[in-house]
Amino acid sequence: MDKLLVIDDEQSILDLLKVVFEKQGYSVKSALSAEKALKLLDEDEFDLVLTDVKLPQKSGMDILKYAKKTKPDIPVIMITAYGTIKQAVEAFKAGAVDYVLKPFDVEELKIIVKKGLKERKLKEENVLLKKELKERYSFKNMIGKSRPMQEIFGLIDKIADNDSTVLITGESGTGKEMAARAVHFHGKRKDQPFITVNCGALPENLLESELFGHVKGAFTGAVAHKKGMFQVADKGTLFLDEIGEMSPKTQVKVLRAIQEKIIRRVGGTEEIPVDVRIISATNQDLKEKLKQGDFREDLFYRLNVITFHMPPLRDRREDIPPLVNHFLKKHCDKTGIPMKRVAPEVINVFESYHWPGNIRELENVIERIVAIEERQTLTKKCLPDELLTPPEHGTQDQKIGPGFELDRVLDNQTVRYIREALSRSSGNMKKASSLLGINYRSLRYLIDKHSIKEER
Ligand SMILES: Nc1ncnc2c1ncn2[C@@H]1O[C@H](COP(=O)(O)OP(=O)(O)OP(=O)(O)O)[C@@H](O)[C@H]1O
Ligand SMILES: [Mg+2]
Repeated sequence: MDKLLVIDDEQSILDLLKVVFEKQGYSVKSALSAEKALKLLDEDEFDLVLTDVKLPQKSGMDILKYAKKTKPDIPVIMITAYGTIKQAVEAFKAGAVDYVLKPFDVEELKIIVKKGLKERKLKEENVLLKKELKERYSFKNMIGKSRPMQEIFGLIDKIADNDSTVLITGESGTGKEMAARAVHFHGKRKDQPFITVNCGALPENLLESELFGHVKGAFTGAVAHKKGMFQVADKGTLFLDEIGEMSPKTQVKVLRAIQEKIIRRVGGTEEIPVDVRIISATNQDLKEKLKQGDFREDLFYRLNVITFHMPPLRDRREDIPPLVNHFLKKHCDKTGIPMKRVAPEVINVFESYHWPGNIRELENVIERIVAIEERQTLTKKCLPDELLTPPEHGTQDQKIGPGFELDRVLDNQTVRYIREALSRSSGNMKKASSLLGINYRSLRYLIDKHSIKEER
């Protein structure tokens, strides 16, 4: 029920307004003076204020200014018997939503109040929606305390506001799309559309019509004009996912669209200007494709103004515990059950597993356990088999390609072997060091260096 505050120094007017608006289904509080009104504003929550301008001591303008200062979202409507244009202008400048002359027409006042409340709701919903969008794609939901992720966050922050094209590489499930959204929702285009086109999901002809649209009759099945995604994304961001799958013919057209900022619909002749920021993503080695002649060099350099590589999860194991918490919370909340906990042994398994499906795989594992496990604390027993049987050493080596760093790869190998040795020796460091063929001090040093938690 919407709550109104009405202020007038004439009791009869207050009585009238109360009867009228209570009949409309609102709850109404009234005040005979500005002083009382200011007190009520402090003590209570209102959805709308209706005030006389001329009051004994402080005036309706004082109420308006106070309301705007303390609760800027409340619509305030001014009523006056001595209207001057100057006063009305002053009221609007101070933030009043309307200005009504006495004697007022009750029916008109009802409409003005209704309109004020409706606008407030719309504004609130809008703010909520934007907040939700912003939160969904803010760094708050994008977990990553590891060094490479922190670097990526820094880069996103830096480039979000300009219009340069961005190429995001990385294995499947590493968060390429999430990073693309973060770029969009942190930049000045954030209130404009973010449109995704998966270039690997459609055959060449359909992809072209998806990107550029088509005119009626352009091909069999084109029964009506269709807008392409370049046009739908106008003023916003177009995310070209799996760009490596795009055919050479389509590559030419995309290059032209990017260079000239103009598109032509399939079968059409009209040149349509478009203003989009292009972010593309691939899990393939585009440089390799370039060498093979499967990807156009000119397009590659257009797309590749800023590049970042999403590291695989196994190369940023520090992110695993916070990601686990994040997904536990997300899926427990979604299912409406109390937050579950994981035993440290589970984290150990997670940190040792090689996660070929990266973050998506981790999220799926957690979603599944949350759905089927009734226990409050999740132990090793709840985990699917593939996590518990480590693959043969060597099979999880990273291939040389974008983002390859020899030091990291070797460090990861080192960590994996140390974990395994510690696990086999039940945390006995002497035994573990002899299993590894190194001395105790070297093992101590490596454990500190890689901050490996001991498995006891
Ligand atoms: N840093 C992160 N923090 C939290 N969740 C993440 C993070 N990165 C990815 N995710 C989640 O993991 C899932 C996979 O992410 P996303 O779709 O962005 O990956 P991708 O690299 O585009 O994968 P693919 O190549 O398979 O399309 C999504 O559900 C996403 O919300
Ligand atoms: Mg993706």
